[in-house]
Amino acid sequence: MRTPAVLVASLAVLAAPLILTSLPAAHGAAAPTEAAADHPLGDLAPTPPMGWNSWNTFGCDINEQLIRDTADIIVESGMRDAGYEYVNIDDCWMAPERDAEGRLQPDPVDFPNGIAALADYVHARGLKLGIYSSAGTETCQGLPASLGHEQIDAQTFADWGVDYLKYDNCNNQGVPAIERYQAMGDALAATGRDIVYSICEWGTNDPWLWGRDVGGHLWRTTGDITDSWESVMSLLDQQVGLEAYSGPNGWNDPDMLEVGNEGLTRAESRAHMSLWSLLNSPLLAGNDLRAMPTWALRQLTDADVVAVNQDWGGEQGSKLRDDGDSEVWTKPMSDGSVAVVLLNRGAATDAIAVTADELDLPQAARFKVRDVWSDQEWTSDGTVRASVGSHAAAMYVVEPYHGTALPPLVTVDAEVSPAYVEPGGDAQATVRVYNDGTQPITAVRFALSAPEGWQVTADDPTQVPRIQPGRSARVRWTLHDDAGELGPVEVAGSASWRWRRTGYDGRSAASFYLATPIEAGEHYLSDLDWVDADSYWGPIERDMSNGEQDPGDGGPITIGGTTYEKGLGVHAPSTITYFAGGDCTEVSALVGIDDETEGQGEATFEIWGDGEQLASSGTVVGGAAAVPLAADLAGVDVLELRVLDNGNTNHDHADWAEAQISCA
Ligand code: GLA
Repeated sequence: MRTPAVLVASLAVLAAPLILTSLPAAHGAAAPTEAAADHPLGDLAPTPPMGWNSWNTFGCDINEQLIRDTADIIVESGMRDAGYEYVNIDDCWMAPERDAEGRLQPDPVDFPNGIAALADYVHARGLKLGIYSSAGTETCQGLPASLGHEQIDAQTFADWGVDYLKYDNCNNQGVPAIERYQAMGDALAATGRDIVYSICEWGTNDPWLWGRDVGGHLWRTTGDITDSWESVMSLLDQQVGLEAYSGPNGWNDPDMLEVGNEGLTRAESRAHMSLWSLLNSPLLAGNDLRAMPTWALRQLTDADVVAVNQDWGGEQGSKLRDDGDSEVWTKPMSDGSVAVVLLNRGAATDAIAVTADELDLPQAARFKVRDVWSDQEWTSDGTVRASVGSHAAAMYVVEPYHGTALPPLVTVDAEVSPAYVEPGGDAQATVRVYNDGTQPITAVRFALSAPEGWQVTADDPTQVPRIQPGRSARVRWTLHDDAGELGPVEVAGSASWRWRRTGYDGRSAASFYLATPIEAGEHYLSDLDWVDADSYWGPIERDMSNGEQDPGDGGPITIGGTTYEKGLGVHAPSTITYFAGGDCTEVSALVGIDDETEGQGEATFEIWGDGEQLASSGTVVGGAAAVPLAADLAGVDVLELRVLDNGNTNHDHADWAEAQISCA
């Protein structure tokens, strides 16, 4: 159904005490503000809306049974009790024609009992129903939409008992956005029904500046999310600078959740949930609730994480520090505590730390650090630290602490290098234990485990009698490959220690690759295996363009009217990593935006070797001829083909045509 032209996007673990401490009371609720009271459509979203939406998983494959089943599960699973309220039907619910009176009508096959009956069903379960239209002549999927029909459509929705409208931007005929969104805002107000108004114009016309005035309770700030880490990170980056525009009844919306969807690992999904909560983003689950693994339900309903999202301490969360792959995000909470997300975007486990000073906490001798995911609590001297795995985040709430019962904050961090080892080679692992508490820990024992096929030798004594507060200790190991399995190698570092009379322990995972270098000769990269690959939308395609969303659905690689038989098709932002192994001489490609975007999209192609940029295409726009890009690879072990989205992912179908490598 989706065509490229309408594609708008188209822990490692902290120290775990063996004894669990008690849980503190929930955090403060959102405080009403003056601004909330005078919202044109009413005080309907004093906290970010929570619920579910059909689009991310089901696209157009929806029907009334799915909506009913989903409503049932929201109740039965405990999601309703956790705060999930709206059951939102996205695009494709409507029949291809309006009725004789000019009203939208539901698709007779998929919604035979009509929307009003569905609203009753949902309301009977203590939930609310959301619906979708576009501020255009047709929806993004080519069905009738509301431009020029605002009054009758708003009234129809109100008559059906609809509680929430997501109003999209496709087929808008070039009518100015403010005019289009104002018309629907006015029409919704005129119905007299309480309807949350969700503006979905992809951040194209800075809706944070006018969304509230036209009646919006939330506004999308970006193009569409997809279930990829690249997408989640790209949307996150686009939130920077918008913090001041968010607040009760007017929320920045970085798009719906992909929690539990298959393109994200559990750790990635948890990082996504942590960040969206910190950003006061609407929490609209986008997974199939009928087939949800327990871990996804836990991520969606964690009471502390949801409490951070629903708390209005006067500011949306924001990025405090950016150290490249590691970032620190914080949000002041209404009770004076501070929520913190430590984010690791890199490929290797990393210990990330931030101080109470940086977090703007009041001076105090001790702080309480609460891991909102595990519910564990520690005493800190002011440093908040976590060993965070690749593509993962740790999330805490921190506040001054006057008690003495909580154990010291201790972090176990495992790191390993180099990132790629050839068969028969060695890697070095380090396990470090940081004591960020205010009292010593004693009897510290270190351990490291590796998979079969690896010899593990400690290079240091594996016990230390004591680590003073504010200090750390480390133990190193050599790992020697003795017929290990090719691919990622996971090692687990751990430590145990004592505080007072109790034993504690902690773990951290780190990984590297056992990889064979690319063989001698000339190869097309699309004929070789990469060791790692990320792409914003859909899988990376060999010898075809990125296409739509599924494997193998791309077209021939075509740039500026020329078709190429070989190459790689990705969607920016993207990184493909190869282990060259030091004996390759040159890599080359003809790069460009695929013609399937019909002249849209813009990206920058880069070749990186061992972490250094070797070549860049500069900005390449849709419709332009292919740009030759090449780099000398002498001595390069790790080759990365990166495509940057230039701040906007729309239509970035990027081709590495004729991508070739020569190795000796
Ligand atoms: C646009 C929106 C998406 C979704 C689709 C439906 O792309 O941004 O969230 O509603 O349309 O067609």
